Amino acid sequence: MSSKTSSRSMLDAVGNTPCIELRNVVPDGCARIFVKLEGLNPTGSYKDRMAKSVIEEAERRGDLKPGMTVVEATGGSTGSSLAFICAIKRYEFLVVSSNAFAEERLKTMSAFGATVDIVHSPTGKITPRLIPAMRERAKELSKEGGYYYADQFSNPDVPVGYEGLGRELLEQIPEGIDAFCGAVGGAGMVMGVARILKEKQPRCHVAVLEPASAPFLTKGHGGVHSVEGIGIGFLPPLLDKKLYDSVVAVEESEGRAMSRRLAKEEGILAGTSTGLNVVAAIELARQLGPEKVVVTVACDTGLKYVRGDLYTS
Ligand SMILES: Cc1ncc(COP(=O)(O)O)c(C=O)c1O
Repeated sequence: MSSKTSSRSMLDAVGNTPCIELRNVVPDGCARIFVKLEGLNPTGSYKDRMAKSVIEEAERRGDLKPGMTVVEATGGSTGSSLAFICAIKRYEFLVVSSNAFAEERLKTMSAFGATVDIVHSPTGKITPRLIPAMRERAKELSKEGGYYYADQFSNPDVPVGYEGLGRELLEQIPEGIDAFCGAVGGAGMVMGVARILKEKQPRCHVAVLEPASAPFLTKGHGGVHSVEGIGIGFLPPLLDKKLYDSVVAVEESEGRAMSRRLAKEEGILAGTSTGLNVVAAIELARQLGPEKVVVTVACDTGLKYVRGDLYTS
């Protein structure tokens, strides 16, 4: 496993996360399950990987140059990761966000030096109009010279950032990977990892996951749910049918219960989407049986959720 101790720059601290085997929550008779601990990235989520590639690919093409301002519409992890990368590389970062999102997240982005532009939600809730309104504002701003719109849901540089995660898994699990699963928001993580796994181990089964209460991929319609980062209510433009084999809808209540078990029984403090990932990984492991290997991802640190009701309800 690569070590982070020789890192020279905070940019080198992104990725090379540990991958551990679950010992206690996996029932007898199942395949082995490995989990990549992405909450150990600098801002506590795998989004650091995509933020780094979005900025560096734009620099490489010459679309982003010193003195320009990066713009993105975001309420959460993506914004914190972009703010972190922009701080290191000395770009101004303008976040279009809203009072509908947790104050900690808005303050994290400000702490990294981002300017936070608020689209006001009169009810303080995430309404169907809110995200499109934020995106329109970000797009509008980026029409002016000197701005670069990161556009996380459509930007092909997003999955590129997760290819490294796939390569690390191949190194960390030399026994081979029979199945990989992950919950999708913009789908960048699963697509980037699947590109690498399908190229090197074409028989690896890839499952994309969504909350059962927002079953856009399985039933064609969105819905109300509270799993941060996934179940976005529209078809993610980056989702490529050639790169996955099945779609699984997971009950949010089961995911939440699993997040609590992961903390208490495995020592993994992670968010709700991670709970969904492990519920689906156990089902795949049950179907595949012993001797096989199933892999999933702990998307982010649970520290972001301790003020909410994830660990108490
Ligand atoms: C906590 C969490 N889990 C899962 C996801 C989904 O990742 P992706 O957008 O790469 O599909 C996100 C994305 O925002 C997230 O913040």
